[in-house]
Amino acid sequence: MTQDAWARLESLARAPGASAIRPLFVADPERARRFAFTADGIRLDIAKTSIGPEAMEALLALAKARDVAGQRRAMAEGAHINATEDRAVLHMALRAPRGSFRDGAEDASATVHDTLDAMAAFTKRIHAEGRFTDVLNIGIGGSDLGPLMAVRALHKPDSPMRAHFLSNADGHAWDALRQQLDPARTLVLVASKTFTTAETMSNAHLVRDWLRNALGEAGDAQLVALSTNLQATAAFGVPAGQVFGFRDWVGGRFSLWSAVGLVIALSCGWEVFAQLLAGARAMDEHFLTAPDERNLPLLLALTEVWHVNGLGLPTRAVLPYDERLSRFAAHLQQVEMESLGKRVTLDGAPVARATGPVVFGEPGTNAQHSFMQLLHQGTTPVPADIVLIARPDHSFAAAHRLLLANGLAQAEALLRGRDAEEVRAEMLAAGKSEAQVEALLPHRLFPGDRPSTTILLETLTPFTLGQLVALYENKVFCLGALWGVNAFDQWGVELGKQLASVILPELSGGTPKQHDGSTAALIAELGRLWPEGARG
Ligand code: F6P
Repeated sequence: MTQDAWARLESLARAPGASAIRPLFVADPERARRFAFTADGIRLDIAKTSIGPEAMEALLALAKARDVAGQRRAMAEGAHINATEDRAVLHMALRAPRGSFRDGAEDASATVHDTLDAMAAFTKRIHAEGRFTDVLNIGIGGSDLGPLMAVRALHKPDSPMRAHFLSNADGHAWDALRQQLDPARTLVLVASKTFTTAETMSNAHLVRDWLRNALGEAGDAQLVALSTNLQATAAFGVPAGQVFGFRDWVGGRFSLWSAVGLVIALSCGWEVFAQLLAGARAMDEHFLTAPDERNLPLLLALTEVWHVNGLGLPTRAVLPYDERLSRFAAHLQQVEMESLGKRVTLDGAPVARATGPVVFGEPGTNAQHSFMQLLHQGTTPVPADIVLIARPDHSFAAAHRLLLANGLAQAEALLRGRDAEEVRAEMLAAGKSEAQVEALLPHRLFPGDRPSTTILLETLTPFTLGQLVALYENKVFCLGALWGVNAFDQWGVELGKQLASVILPELSGGTPKQHDGSTAALIAELGRLWPEGARG
């Protein structure tokens, strides 16, 4: 049945004109309405893709054949769908009411709510005491990107604390940051699911030394840990009452709703964090209950399947038209590519077709002056997700109109393109000669029929941000289910970590190990350029 569903989809996508979008609007004057979907005020518009009624039917049939609904039920029931790590996948429990989720004998929701209560009490105490003006979150990957993205989006000038993020192993990052911070006024969070990540532990040691140098052993009292590894947090010297745990059924890239989100609560306020969770919960409710043909995460996933597997498009751009979402694409890069960059199915067989695309992005309008040229005139179409926020939180209405006009115009330009007749008329009207027109014509043509998806929010609030992020998280689940891959492990990041630990001692004069010629030569050259004697 699955093979039939794929075959039907692929044959539709191979048919002549399958990537054309403009004729679909001509054929169906109701298309704009029929291909726009809403859930609790969030609008997903996929009309500017080449998914027509037949393709939509085939995509929905694929979802049925792959039993996405059944797989979703299994996730919600706590089945260990992350089979390669023998773990449940319960990040939805992080934003759900008590009594909703279990992992075998464990009442997962009770665990979540006990931690949330402790986080709320801690946040309120820190704010009431007023001793700390700044909070520093040390973490990387999921222990950095989600919270950083949310703080960038939700922090206001009158928020309770300033937030800072230290992720890269590069000492330059800490060198720059420490000059802005007063150790006596800085609360330090070490966010690491495993509490073994080399970059995070390296930074945590640097920051702990800084606290101890300024405040003596008492500096350790300013350390807070967000982790599943309680033994390691104790060994590091974090006071027991300042460790906020979570379970291994929370994947790092899905952890911003867990204790890892403490920096959001501290810097933006508890109510902001609570509303973020409420928005995500609303999207989960929709995802768990809405029928397939109106289910936003599923429709977003099916749109991706059409582009990746139907049309063979290997990349996707994420363009939020809102400066506050400047790290949204960075967060999605991890959520999507770490989840879906997989080449074998759950049972270990090579996948039969392409999986996760390359995801990249920047906020609009900056993207327009950076890489949009390639989207408009490059050789391979790049589907774009365009996020628009209808009402701003500032009073510069003209600026916001300009922003929105640009977001809409990019999508329209990708769709409509520009043909020879239009270019010729415009150039002649501008006084160009026939010869000039002919010479420039090919350069000024836009093919059009390039797909985009628009997501429209009324305002950007903690609630709507929660909806937006959960929309993509649930979309990732759907894609894992459709492609039959495990979206919740990340073995691909391990080899580099292991090799780095082999190379590390060689950079301080250790015995050279077996490497390819290029790596060996580079290690030798680094030794020459940065000799032992020149190091601190
Ligand atoms: O390198 C991959 C990864 O394991 C991510 O999945 C994770 O978010 C990140 O490292 C950080 O891991 P931790 O929270 O355990 O420090």
